[in-house]
Amino acid sequence: MDQKPLEIKKGVYWVGVVDWNVRTFHGHTYTTSRGSTYNAYLIVDEKIVLIDTVFGPFASELITKIKAIVDPSKIDYIIANHVETDHSGALPEIMRLCRKAKVLGTAKCKEGLYRNYYCDWDFQIVKSGETIRLGTKTLSFIEAPMIHWPDSMFTYCPEEKLLMPNDAFGQHYASSSRFDDTVEECVLMDEARKYYANILWPLSPVILRKIQDIQKMNIALDMIAPSHGIIWRKDPFKIINSYVRWAQNETKPEVVVVYETMWGATEKMARRIIAGLIDAGIRVSVYDVAVHDRTEIIGAMLEAQGFIFGSSTHDNDMLPVMAGFLDFLKGLKPKNRICSVFGSYGWGGGAAAEMEKVLKEAGIDIVQPSLGCKYMPDEEDISRCYGFGKEFAGKISAAGK
Ligand code: FEO
Repeated sequence: MDQKPLEIKKGVYWVGVVDWNVRTFHGHTYTTSRGSTYNAYLIVDEKIVLIDTVFGPFASELITKIKAIVDPSKIDYIIANHVETDHSGALPEIMRLCRKAKVLGTAKCKEGLYRNYYCDWDFQIVKSGETIRLGTKTLSFIEAPMIHWPDSMFTYCPEEKLLMPNDAFGQHYASSSRFDDTVEECVLMDEARKYYANILWPLSPVILRKIQDIQKMNIALDMIAPSHGIIWRKDPFKIINSYVRWAQNETKPEVVVVYETMWGATEKMARRIIAGLIDAGIRVSVYDVAVHDRTEIIGAMLEAQGFIFGSSTHDNDMLPVMAGFLDFLKGLKPKNRICSVFGSYGWGGGAAAEMEKVLKEAGIDIVQPSLGCKYMPDEEDISRCYGFGKEFAGKISAAGK
């Protein structure tokens, strides 16, 4: 056990684990450059409740932490806010110790847990608005389908003004600290933004509706304890307000330039396009997609108004890393963005048209004709690239008005 259980509210203990070494998540769709945590919470009242578990390989660490507080056989309820293995993986081992425990979750959770573990646990389906009394505390449930799986649910403790929303408001961030006021705020927000962009972005309409529903419930809130990363206690509304902005696809007048180059010609074009943008006063982030981490690039795109994509032509198409990147971006369904494309070619071209095809499918507004260059850019091409950047900067300024 690397860290002891921590009492985060009176009678409410963090019993999760820190995974310092995990570097990929959801298969290989997310790069966890700062590791992650699997947060589980134990409430000790007249009834004893475990809220979520941890990833299976860490089951013994969770059990050690629980044993430091109570005998696991005394646990009355286990709340499964979410089926996914990083939170339910330790459940089979926990259930072997918690003989009398009833598992609570949504109907989809019951189905999902069965299809993962084929165990016949004592399961009680709960719905939004239902509560259980623990003694001095109560827990109420808020179904949150598609935030981010159909089974997802939030658990709320009114007496402690504590929301435990599982994946929502989380970050993949391993730290020796547990709270937002004990970590670097810019690092925390960077991880929260990356998490939203890569996992939750396509679910923005659902997220916005759920936040509005919760706001209408007018619940008191002074702590949000998610299932990954840092607990929000300094100002839980900071992350709620950030989610509202992200879900509304609010942007800043910034441009993310993403390109892939074969022999350096497309990169030369990129450098002059960037110069045109910068000279026009636009803030720019630049990534060679074959070199940079996709999770980081997507994180940077969440708040940017404009995207410019470049690729050399290969087999009448864009280069393969760019093709994979745009396919991933399409699945994130970004809204309210403008873009254009560029690239070098030898004879037939084709990359620009293929990139534009995917971007149209993604619903991103192509506001400027593509820019091409045969083989290496000459002086005139270089000048056209600079002008292309300046012209796009004008589109950004116009979009912000
Ligand atoms: Fe959807 Fe952290 O699992």
